[in-house]
Amino acid sequence: MKIPGLKRRDTISYNMFDLERSAAEAKRFNKCENIYHRGQDLAWNGKEVLDMLVAKHGKPKLTDEQRTALQRIFAIILWGELAAWRISAQLADRIEPLEAKMAATSQVHDEARHFYVMYDYLSLLGEVPKKMDFAPRRLIETVLNTDNLAYKMIGMQLMIETLALTIFQSVRLAAPEPVLTELLKYFEKDEARHVGLGMQYLPMLMKDMNKVQIAGLFAFQARILSYGMWEAKVIEDDLRVLGISARDVIDRGRAKQMLVLRDTFESLGIQGDRGPVLTFFSVTGELLFPSEETRGSRKAQWKAAWRAFRGALPDTEDASMSVHDHEIVTAQDSVATKRRAG
Ligand SMILES: [Fe+2]
Ligand SMILES: [Fe+2]
Repeated sequence: MKIPGLKRRDTISYNMFDLERSAAEAKRFNKCENIYHRGQDLAWNGKEVLDMLVAKHGKPKLTDEQRTALQRIFAIILWGELAAWRISAQLADRIEPLEAKMAATSQVHDEARHFYVMYDYLSLLGEVPKKMDFAPRRLIETVLNTDNLAYKMIGMQLMIETLALTIFQSVRLAAPEPVLTELLKYFEKDEARHVGLGMQYLPMLMKDMNKVQIAGLFAFQARILSYGMWEAKVIEDDLRVLGISARDVIDRGRAKQMLVLRDTFESLGIQGDRGPVLTFFSVTGELLFPSEETRGSRKAQWKAAWRAFRGALPDTEDASMSVHDHEIVTAQDSVATKRRAG
């Protein structure tokens, strides 16, 4: 019985090593452990990397209009990184199996770095945004406040992380200024590992769920996506100022989500990439963010929405989660370089 005002007492659990594992689960846990070690190997020093990029390209230069647009969009990223830090700390505390706990712990370390580096970068632009818009705040607080571990994991690892990766990739490709363009490669490499934890561990959290519980999880996912679409509409003009089409962002985001959900749910026999949530995402996308062909014609937009409802998908360029080709300077490399130099 829960007594109001009385805090749940945390206890030390000793059964971390007693959990039974199938061969497929052992493989998944192995991948989770690798995420922790990769995180350690690829950790970068945020202060050094930002200084290095400013020394290489000079202080960021933007027009006033671009700066305002970038600050609006990156308010979501800055405060979103702080939230990701807190949510991953919750996951590191609440996940029981050792390897997945290790992977979440390495994420906490990454998100702390993302927050302070983004703060330092935005300080270089002038004013650091004080808060984010209503929709992303509700989106993030929904994930922060759920006590359901599967909801928290799909919300953080598969939804927020892929939305962040979509924004990073879109801004990097538009390249409004070179310091940010290079810095985002560092962020993307880390965030892709965080998606990996969700892809490996979520199926294990879901395997004993019944149909009603899975429907609840998808309803939670739909809520998160609705807030994401809402915010994309709010920042549409800011994206345009930076040379980014909101429609491209939506298409890229959906393609990433499809890829991740298909691979995550495959082992459970669920069609993650063709479910009702992503169909809803596609239909709403056609109506809210018309393509070049349908813009200006309501009839054409409804036709495209109908096609999306029937399962047709627009062509999407590179949706890959792979960021292996991004060269980065890690803390270990720079330590080794300094040692050699000394
Ligand atoms: Fe992050
Ligand atoms: Fe992340």
